[in-house]
Amino acid sequence: MSVKALSVVPGKPDTAGVRDHPDPSPSEGGLLVEGLLMGVCGTDIEIIQEGYGWSPPGDERLIIGHESLGRVVDAPGDSGFAAGDLIAGIVRRPDPVPCEPCGKGQWDFCRNGKYTERGIKERNGYGASQWRVEPEFAVKLDPSLGDAGVLMEPTSVVAKAWEQSEKIAERAPAPQHVALITGAGPIGLLAALLGVQRGFDVHVLDRVDAGPKPQLARDIGATFHAGDVGEIGVQPDIVIECTGYGPLVFELVNVVAKDAVICLAGISASTRKVSLGLDSINKEMVLENTVLFGSVNAARRHYEQAADALVKADLEWLNRLVSRKVALSDYTDALDRHDDDVKVAIDLRH
Ligand code: BGC
Repeated sequence: MSVKALSVVPGKPDTAGVRDHPDPSPSEGGLLVEGLLMGVCGTDIEIIQEGYGWSPPGDERLIIGHESLGRVVDAPGDSGFAAGDLIAGIVRRPDPVPCEPCGKGQWDFCRNGKYTERGIKERNGYGASQWRVEPEFAVKLDPSLGDAGVLMEPTSVVAKAWEQSEKIAERAPAPQHVALITGAGPIGLLAALLGVQRGFDVHVLDRVDAGPKPQLARDIGATFHAGDVGEIGVQPDIVIECTGYGPLVFELVNVVAKDAVICLAGISASTRKVSLGLDSINKEMVLENTVLFGSVNAARRHYEQAADALVKADLEWLNRLVSRKVALSDYTDALDRHDDDVKVAIDLRH
């Protein structure tokens, strides 16, 4: 027996392909899972087109896919899972040392960089017709979510960003009302959803006012802005920055309210150089108690928060976010950007 999977030789762009791989080894986890969908994000495109990623020790190829959705085929009796359960797999595994955060299940704060990640760093991913996962690294989804469950992993990343931002914001004894989300891609729209669910007056900024994103933002009750951040007309208390666009990041410092928290949740592959008035940015941040911090990955509790957030959301809205599904055999089509794309997913069943 073998499974169909999307794999690459890390470090060698353009080696991606759908191939037969051996059955997943029971050492990868007690749950045997049918792969349903794999969400595609910038990291996957970097792995495929720019040679990012690391294969498992001793293997030439890496099966990619870290945004997962699967259905349990077989589960050990004491695992808490049963055949038919809809699940998502957690991306990161603690480093083997382990460092203090990893030892406490907070691998998203790994200190020594020896963590591994499914589909990215030294562990095969979930982009396969069948995969295995350890029950403690699987999260059950409400069956009503169906294919929208593929949004779990990106939602876990924004659940962490929100949790950390609110934790930091607690240092100022003033209520936080206004949130700004920069970037209306899938991460930005999910961050907006979680902001609305938390009761914030949410504003979403994107470069352009085209395609499905403005309406998606408005349909959850957020205000959509296109263009310059200096012209949004509100002073946000919390910003979740999802573009990774450096010049925008530092412009935010001038736009936010006093005591604001700016969470950097996006990265860009660009190596552009810009000149910035760093002394005035410093002055502004000191005089206004501004916090600017980064947030990566997610711990198990953030996946659980994500599962709750998705089940509370409007299912039709979530399904609009998964704007295109492409059969595994046509995966190259998932890498091309179409005008109406929000989140593109690869269908592992075809
Ligand atoms: C994933 C994270 C991961 C990060 C770095 C992102 O695309 O969503 O889970 O930690 O890449 O590899």
